[in-house]
Amino acid sequence: MKIHDSTFVISAVSPAQYPEDALPEIAMAGRSNVGKSSLINMLINRKNLARTSSTPGKTQTINFYDIDEKFRFVDLPGYGYAKVSKTQKATWGKIMETYLNNRQNLLEVIQLVDLRHKPTEQDIDMYKWILKCGFNGIVIATKHDKVKGSQLEKQKKIIRQALDMPPNAPLFTISATNRYGKYEVWDLFNQIFEVNGFDVHIERQDKKK
Ligand code: GTP
Ligand code: MG
Repeated sequence: MKIHDSTFVISAVSPAQYPEDALPEIAMAGRSNVGKSSLINMLINRKNLARTSSTPGKTQTINFYDIDEKFRFVDLPGYGYAKVSKTQKATWGKIMETYLNNRQNLLEVIQLVDLRHKPTEQDIDMYKWILKCGFNGIVIATKHDKVKGSQLEKQKKIIRQALDMPPNAPLFTISATNRYGKYEVWDLFNQIFEVNGFDVHIERQDKKK
């Protein structure tokens, strides 16, 4: 299939607000400003359907996006921005815990990290949590366009080591700015749908980059 119709469904904090669970979901987790919303936009060829911002902490809710009524992308609230109260942190934890522990139709939670930096303590905690929930520990490193080719392997190694990634867990690099890595990610997602028995297969829509 090709993507024709992506729509924002709802910003939710509690299960009562979630959309019905008939469609499979793939969720993006990561530090605020890492590029979760940008990745979703890049994958669905939309400039700003998932709202992005240079102000960290923009997405404080769970945002659901329906893709051609076949599946959903879920933009999880970011963590790790400086100006945050204890109450806000606790609220974030509760929102995340409720979603991660109870969502039957959640196929994968993808950990996003910034390719330029060593993962933070919170990245490490988030990644452990994802593995503990039984997901496969797929990591997407963002902002590939900001890293020199000569630094690439070194940065990837730093990420693998810091997160203590299982040897078979995949690490992808992408750029939402120049669309690098887009189809590798789609290949991965197609595989996730297939393995889970869903008839979803995204075709290439523009030239390979
Ligand atoms: P929160 O909603 O706060 O959790 O952040 P987020 O993870 O959704 O980040 P967002 O997609 O809003 O991106 C944050 C900033 O990083 C924006 O200014 C984006 O334009 C920029 N950005 C995202 N991806 C890339 C990328 O691949 N390359 C570069 N150069 N900038 C990027
Ligand atoms: Mg966002």
